[in-house]
Amino acid sequence: MKNIKTYISDNKDRFLNEIIELLKIPSISADSAYSNHVLKTADMVKTSLEEAGCDTVEIHKTAGFPIVYGEKIVNADLPTILVYGHYDVQPPDPVELWDSPPFEPVIKKTELHPEGAIFARGSCDDKGQMYMHVKALELMVKTDQLPCNVKFMIEGEEEVGSDNLGIYVAENKGKLKNDIILISDTGMIANNIPSITTGLRGLSYVEVEVTGPNRDLHSGLYGGAVANPINILAKMIANLHDENNHITIPGFYDKVEELSKEERAEMAKAPFSLDAYQKALEIDAVYGEKGYTTNERNSIRPTLDVNGIWGGYTGEGAKTVIASKAYAKISMRLVPDQDWEEVTELFKTHFESIAPKGVKVKVIPHHGGQGYVTPIDTIGYKAASKAYETTFGKKPVPQRSGGSIPIVSLFEQELGSKTILMGFGLDSDAIHSPNEHFGVWNYLKGIETIPYFYQYFTEMNADG
Ligand code: BES
Ligand code: MN
Ligand code: MN
Repeated sequence: MKNIKTYISDNKDRFLNEIIELLKIPSISADSAYSNHVLKTADMVKTSLEEAGCDTVEIHKTAGFPIVYGEKIVNADLPTILVYGHYDVQPPDPVELWDSPPFEPVIKKTELHPEGAIFARGSCDDKGQMYMHVKALELMVKTDQLPCNVKFMIEGEEEVGSDNLGIYVAENKGKLKNDIILISDTGMIANNIPSITTGLRGLSYVEVEVTGPNRDLHSGLYGGAVANPINILAKMIANLHDENNHITIPGFYDKVEELSKEERAEMAKAPFSLDAYQKALEIDAVYGEKGYTTNERNSIRPTLDVNGIWGGYTGEGAKTVIASKAYAKISMRLVPDQDWEEVTELFKTHFESIAPKGVKVKVIPHHGGQGYVTPIDTIGYKAASKAYETTFGKKPVPQRSGGSIPIVSLFEQELGSKTILMGFGLDSDAIHSPNEHFGVWNYLKGIETIPYFYQYFTEMNADG
């Protein structure tokens, strides 16, 4: 392809300014106080797709936040790439741990990003990565080398479970028809070790509530004589793992796909430094399921984690009280071929069964989704691999990720298409955490690599 590097260097400042403008809008889908900002962001995405060269762009209303759909069809006989991304972001809390305000983007140098990184909520997940695709389209259109058809589907509810996108996809199968889905919403190993994500974990997210006495009690007058829901909840949670860090829920591992020795040996070839990993997190040891390596624990093995736990008195000073209720939010990351709804049921049955007399337990399922694995012998994977090789000068490593994008398995189910996960973030970019950032180099490298995927995918399709 011609002029890609020149086009990017000529427009670099504008590319950065545009993403910075988008990052200034707090499009927090989880918090209804920010609804107007989420809607405004959808409008900005629409305008950006029009300016990049889409023929039609629509805002599709849903029961929640809208989906921005855009397309440029150059020739019905050519392949069609469907780009998916999300314009909503996670809440920035705890805000006091940010070094700069989450919605006032700044570019600062870091050890891993010597050319600077954009610090803002959503910079990497996913506004920055989504916007690489908008700019890549602009580049291909303006330099007259868009080789195939493209459709964009950018949603505003990924961080809250994509419920309405599921409905939209099921109702618009014809419109969304495509040859491959392309997503940048994952990461890669390092800037000098490109990788393509070949798997995502599934998810089951539940909230639990343990109720003891009907009201908060004086912990002296009643302490020792009634069940304390917080003590009980802590004990129940502790019982969900055994001494080998296996999950104790009966049936939990029944459908877990066991990888062969060869597959595990192949995985172990991916570059990884345990020492650097521990240093980056300031921990003196890793912790997890016996019999598995760190990279296996966070990708091919299922997990159960408490994400939040509360109850009783947490204010300043001391208050002597036995709370009436205790709560926790628990996520289970799942692997092929676990079914998330089935696992949610297994959890519920087990958790209710281990509650002692004297408390009542409620399990409230939140959301979930299936995991995903993509084969590497497809045209899609080969085109992506060649694109990375062209721009990074190195073959990318296939790697399964521990994160979840539940809608990906639904795309396969409803649209019959495979997804290519071309992520350009680093694990250390702090997505969902304070000081989220995205490397300027990564942002521009993404814009450079994406057009090659379009080209190679189109060529490989023509070759059969
Ligand atoms: N982009 C992430 C998922 C991700 C990040 C996958 C890095 C692989 C590598 C996505 O926005 C996300 O946060 N997903 C949620 C699940 C969703 C249902 C809220 C997750 O993984 O916690
Ligand atoms: Mn994301
Ligand atoms: Mn996310």
